[in-house]
Amino acid sequence: MSTSDPLRLRVIRGEILHFLSDPAEHGTAAWQHFGDGILAIRDGLVAEVGPADDMLAKLPSDITHDDYRGKLILPGFVDTHTHYAQTDIIASHGEQLLAWLEKYTFPAEARFADAAHAATVANFFCDELLRNGTTTAMAFATVHAQSVDALFAAALQRRMRLITGKVLMDRNCPDNLRDTAASGEAESRTLIERWHGRERLLYAVTPRFAGTSTPAQMAGAGRLFAEHPSLYLQSHVAENRAEVDWIAKLYPEARSYLDVYGRFGQLGERSVYAHCIWLDQTDRARMAATGSAMSFCPTSNLFLGSGLFDLDCARQVGVRVGMGTDVGAGTSFSMLQTLNEAYKVLQLNDQRLSAESAFYLATLGGARSLYLDDRIGNFLPGKEADLVVLDPQATPLLARRSAACSSLSERLFVLMMLGDDRAVAATHVLGTAAWRRPCSR
Ligand code: GUN
Ligand code: ZN
Repeated sequence: MSTSDPLRLRVIRGEILHFLSDPAEHGTAAWQHFGDGILAIRDGLVAEVGPADDMLAKLPSDITHDDYRGKLILPGFVDTHTHYAQTDIIASHGEQLLAWLEKYTFPAEARFADAAHAATVANFFCDELLRNGTTTAMAFATVHAQSVDALFAAALQRRMRLITGKVLMDRNCPDNLRDTAASGEAESRTLIERWHGRERLLYAVTPRFAGTSTPAQMAGAGRLFAEHPSLYLQSHVAENRAEVDWIAKLYPEARSYLDVYGRFGQLGERSVYAHCIWLDQTDRARMAATGSAMSFCPTSNLFLGSGLFDLDCARQVGVRVGMGTDVGAGTSFSMLQTLNEAYKVLQLNDQRLSAESAFYLATLGGARSLYLDDRIGNFLPGKEADLVVLDPQATPLLARRSAACSSLSERLFVLMMLGDDRAVAATHVLGTAAWRRPCSR
């Protein structure tokens, strides 16, 4: 490593863990772990990672570093599905999906016609992501173009990686949230030109779900997605049984709910579908074959009583899977809490989620789902140096339980079961601290 210009070099020291591949496929070869490691960062990108002893020998002797010894450094978390405009309705009681949308979601989203409200919520949302160690998110905005502007602007200010888009919704929703096939497409085009590829920001064509778009709008979304090879597409599929029955009535010609998206050209690389619960193996194989990704949203699926995601079936077909918080149906911004509930969902399906697999899904797995694994997801040289610093001593219970752990696996499991935002000591974006927990001990 060249050390000719130490001013551009940032050095971070602590216990380091990152994944090179999926532990479900490659076992212990899937990760690198340095009990006392150093991450060297140049101009926001990883220069090198390795054991502290080796790295210190190569670095200038007087170089200062962020000293996180006693804490665990991981690549920043990747949230593959969330809704920033639902921040204020998180934890709203008593309904399943379709009634929950009517009663809580649509009224909350209508407020985003007000650009000032959108900016306030977008800033809160991005800060909350960082407080929870999430440095990349794929998020729904609302039907209002200014809601997209607000979220991109907030992410830009924090230098975060963020994918969002204007919701397309031209039927089965309140009038004040309704666009048309033509206006939705035109506004999406304007936003793509304004934001897609600017710094770390990327645009996603965002048909909310097949139930709230007419066939004309669905066709337009598919055309837009096909026009630009680097664009994303995000939507929801097969979340709730009543929803699945309703979609079957709206699109009787389709083989399945997923097939509706296929018919409108909405499956492909960089398309990400939240939930994917009530799919069959033909659907899952089609998602794998088209390079589409599934976002597993366990806190939301339990909260809305939607059902249990089947990770083993997803793995059998080799489809990309990432984790999603799905705020505000999801009950936490914390990826640790999301992994906690993923573990429990899979238990109910008689499946086991290892701690290593869980942290893989939250980092490199998410990056692969978003086709960003050449930029983020681990600490290989050249990657964008986004990272989260976890504190196994963050609470009295975490400290007590962690002290009794004898393996890395056990310590990771305790962190994901007992940890939340309190366990995030710091979050760095492109090497620089974007959030540090105030020292209270
Ligand atoms: N399906 C369509 N819209 C939504 C939404 O906002 N949240 C969830 N969980 N599912 C949806
Ligand atoms: Zn969602």
